[in-house]
Amino acid sequence: MDDQFERPYVEKYRPETLEDVVGNFIILKSFFRQQVCNRLTQSNCEVWKYAESHFSCKFQVRLTIIQGPPGTGKTSSVMCMARQMLKDCVKTAVLELNASDDRGIDVVRDKIKGFAHQKVTVPTGMHKLIILDEGDAMTESAQQALRMIMTEYSSTTRFAIACNDSAKIIEPIQSRCAIVRFTKLSDEEVVERLQVVMERENIEHTNDGIEALVFTADGDMRYALNNLQATFAGFSMVNKENVFKVCDQPHPELMGNVLKACLTAKFSEACALIDTVFTQGYNLIDIINTLTKIMQTMSEIKSEEMRLNYLREASIIKMKTLEGNNSQLQLHGFLANLCQLSVQPNKVK
Ligand SMILES: Nc1ncnc2c1ncn2[C@@H]1O[C@H](COP(=O)(O)OP(=O)(O)OP(=O)(O)O)[C@@H](O)[C@H]1O
Ligand SMILES: [Mg+2]
Repeated sequence: MDDQFERPYVEKYRPETLEDVVGNFIILKSFFRQQVCNRLTQSNCEVWKYAESHFSCKFQVRLTIIQGPPGTGKTSSVMCMARQMLKDCVKTAVLELNASDDRGIDVVRDKIKGFAHQKVTVPTGMHKLIILDEGDAMTESAQQALRMIMTEYSSTTRFAIACNDSAKIIEPIQSRCAIVRFTKLSDEEVVERLQVVMERENIEHTNDGIEALVFTADGDMRYALNNLQATFAGFSMVNKENVFKVCDQPHPELMGNVLKACLTAKFSEACALIDTVFTQGYNLIDIINTLTKIMQTMSEIKSEEMRLNYLREASIIKMKTLEGNNSQLQLHGFLANLCQLSVQPNKVK
């Protein structure tokens, strides 16, 4: 079988340059020492092209913590930044450690300190770069050891720490770094990248197929690409039906019907529908997450007040479920509350 076909899209289409990274533009811009330009109306691609041609030697990373949800391009952006910043020296001037490496204190003492101490030729005005991917997985003692190294070698070495949760990075490191926070990608940004991949792979698709991919991805580009590849590999056609067969989430149409039943206070109908989903083996969190996503945009919910009340109920049941109360009865109680809100909109507990 063709090797290229076998490669996961997430790796095959890992951004090579910052132009390929969608979303989080303003945040990415803060990597720059120079303010690139304020042409925010232009697409990322155009602005990066402009930036590189005008400020090619000014790409700069400070001591930075890059925090954000999974699959939003943190690792990819840092790697692109390193390649564009250090050009031919990238192999020698960058040390990348991720969660697959040991993250204890020995690694900090040996590998990181050793690299920081080492003399490496870099372009004028540039610094060596140590990328600590999944930095929140580092042990506390390793982080404690790191803080001194960061200060000691700050004139020659820069650090970029990527993580999902910056609260797991100890305070002294946080205070040494600028924290840039990536957000989930918007639907348009996910579509923008999906379209590039679908065009290059020549994937037959329908608009509702793309919408389904975006819906299931919920701002996670990695998830969107994996689902795209799985759907295409399984069915050779990306449409709504196929995407939902592959993604194995509660079907949004069915969940939409549950909400419609609640909006008209048809409690038994809502329960019957949700029971069919429950017996298909989905857990409560899957169900609540899908319901929440639908509530946010559902046009049948006429007033914003009602939408807020519904979302409030969803957050309460999610909290209870995470505490361990995950029975079908909880779910029915939740639906009962939604029905009651439809009858008495002002009855907020
Ligand atoms: N903003 C983006 N633009 C283009 N592709 C992206 C973007 N974000 C993620 N991807 C795709 O998803 C894959 C994974 O991205 P990446 O490893 O950068 O995510 P991450 O934010 O570091 O996630 P994690 O928190 O799980 O480490 C990339 O190989 C790329 O194909
Ligand atoms: Mg990463």
